[in-house]
Amino acid sequence: MLQCVADFSCDKGPEFRLSAMYCCGVRQGVGDVEHATQVRLTREVFAHLDANTTALAPDVMYHATSAYDSPERLAREKEILFRKYPLLMGLSGQLPNAGDFLTDDYSGVPIVVVRDRGGDVRAFLNVCRHRGARLVEGCGKTGRAFSCPYHGWSYSLQGALMGIPDKDSFAGVDKADRGLVELPAIERDGMIWVIPTPGAELDADAHLCGLAPELANYGFADYHLYETRVLRRNFNWKMVIDTFLEPYHFGVLHANTVGPLLFPNLCLFDGFGPHLRETLPRRSIETLRDLPEADWDLITHTAMVYVLFPNTVLVMQIDHVELWRVYPVADNVDECVMYLDFLIPEPVETESARQHWDRNMDLTIRTVDEEDFPVSAGIQSGLASKAQSELVFGRNEPALAHFQSSINEALAAVR
Ligand code: FES
Repeated sequence: MLQCVADFSCDKGPEFRLSAMYCCGVRQGVGDVEHATQVRLTREVFAHLDANTTALAPDVMYHATSAYDSPERLAREKEILFRKYPLLMGLSGQLPNAGDFLTDDYSGVPIVVVRDRGGDVRAFLNVCRHRGARLVEGCGKTGRAFSCPYHGWSYSLQGALMGIPDKDSFAGVDKADRGLVELPAIERDGMIWVIPTPGAELDADAHLCGLAPELANYGFADYHLYETRVLRRNFNWKMVIDTFLEPYHFGVLHANTVGPLLFPNLCLFDGFGPHLRETLPRRSIETLRDLPEADWDLITHTAMVYVLFPNTVLVMQIDHVELWRVYPVADNVDECVMYLDFLIPEPVETESARQHWDRNMDLTIRTVDEEDFPVSAGIQSGLASKAQSELVFGRNEPALAHFQSSINEALAAVR
């Protein structure tokens, strides 16, 4: 099912107790991290539990607040991170059939991604070659072609200009020169990547810096899009990602919600180039101690958080996938927009299943929107006060330090 919701805000309901983000569920035939890796990570979790430790960064990191409130810095981020890097547009299940399309404008480039009749995913500038009208809005399904809503020029799903109404008035216009402008796009292991710059080179495996085989094991191509929601909030785009990157706050900020289900201040961290994997064990992982290693299933007892640099957080939640894709809004250092794509292992066929996933999605959003995001908004307003020029990342926040350092390095690498 393809479904877009223009914007979302939730009212805290009396039933709000525990986040679906961390709830227990039953996995339904989804893929896994390679089992040897699961065993290694589980052993690391037990070692930390036994020693009352967590993964540590080499040093405390002092991070300039200008990373969050400098217009010049944001301009560099937009120019480099959102134009030169592959951006994850979604998982394959979001475009299951020929003619399915989605659009994305928040990189600063109007993008339309479509599955063509040969089954390939293609991306184009969402700009008609007549007088520049937008071809499509939102997401949905088109037929054999895109038809411009202004004067009716039509384009094949491969981007070729097919039809010009009253073509005699355009004598000499070569249709071969007026196809849609194509963007580099690739579908790999169930993930759809686009670089918003025509002619750029896209190598998904190289981009993922060794993480590709692990992601491939999840079998993302088999997931089904349940729903996409779009949220705009008033803080820097990177703060959305920051909030996923340490469990140090679980015992305090989430003391009455998800905190009791997870270990506060315990995570594993692994970097893959600028990307990262953060393993957040649930307390239920202790049950694995009674089982032979061959039976260890780490995924059931963790939230696996991946940052796919620069702007995506992929959370593997036992039986479903949350994809958070985050962008700055225009030139505003203190405004962001995020897509939450909620992908599930089986198509919804019953009303009870629909209610189950509705509850999961609502509670997922409530957890971040009612506890994490208000703190982020407060941080952003505090930055404006110029109370301090730098933030402090403890050694117990290695994923956070890695993400912010990776951005610093990416910006510094381009003159
Ligand atoms: S702008 Fe598209 S047909 Fe005229």
